[in-house]
Amino acid sequence: MGKFQVMDHPLIQHKLTMIRNKDCGTKDFRQIVNEIATLMAFEVSRDMPLEDVDVQTPVAVAHAKQISGKKVAVVPILRAGIGMVDGILDLIPAAKVGHIGMYRDEETLEPHEYFVKLPSDIEQRQVFVVDPMLATGGSAIMAMDALKKRGASNIKFVCLVSAPEGVKALQDAHPDVDIYTAALDDHLNEDGYIIPGLGDAGDRLFGTK
Ligand code: PRP
Ligand code: URA
Repeated sequence: MGKFQVMDHPLIQHKLTMIRNKDCGTKDFRQIVNEIATLMAFEVSRDMPLEDVDVQTPVAVAHAKQISGKKVAVVPILRAGIGMVDGILDLIPAAKVGHIGMYRDEETLEPHEYFVKLPSDIEQRQVFVVDPMLATGGSAIMAMDALKKRGASNIKFVCLVSAPEGVKALQDAHPDVDIYTAALDDHLNEDGYIIPGLGDAGDRLFGTK
């Protein structure tokens, strides 16, 4: 089974509380989502492999380290995942960005895929799939299916708020995928919203309704 980690760092928890607040407007919501994504990227990238390298400092040669091996692809699930991309790129600027378009039917809660564009060497990359919300898990599961169909195998899922139902569904469908979340909330309501959650992440990020 992949890792399941709730990121309890005080800065992440404080910022998450700010965006849960219904009075947090679009501008602040967007900025804080990116800030949380940056803080999460720090931990999500913890197991990146290092290699030895010698570097000439102004006074001597230092036996130092640099990141080696697999390169990174950040893959947001549209739309709301876009809100986390810049925050991750702040830490990993050389990452390539793929996109997976997915919307949830509001009646059935079933996900529908409408767009997939990935780096051509996706199978050689460490993939960070980002989406603020893991509710029923349907969208994340379908995104993993789309990635694996195209050769990706090294995948981590990074979200802000998750529901127990979605975590279990994603773990059952893709036990190899590590899940990182800023909060594990209580449950889903009958409309598929996470309770207490933060509402509709896409609408809050982009100011739509
Ligand atoms: C939201 C959210 C996730 C999905 C989670 O997207 O950003 O992608 O719902 O729900 P699930 O776990 O039950 O699948 P939505 O479908 O509202 O699309 P949007 O990002 O375009 O608003
Ligand atoms: N998608 C959202 O944006 N919010 C939820 O609470 C559930 C799914």
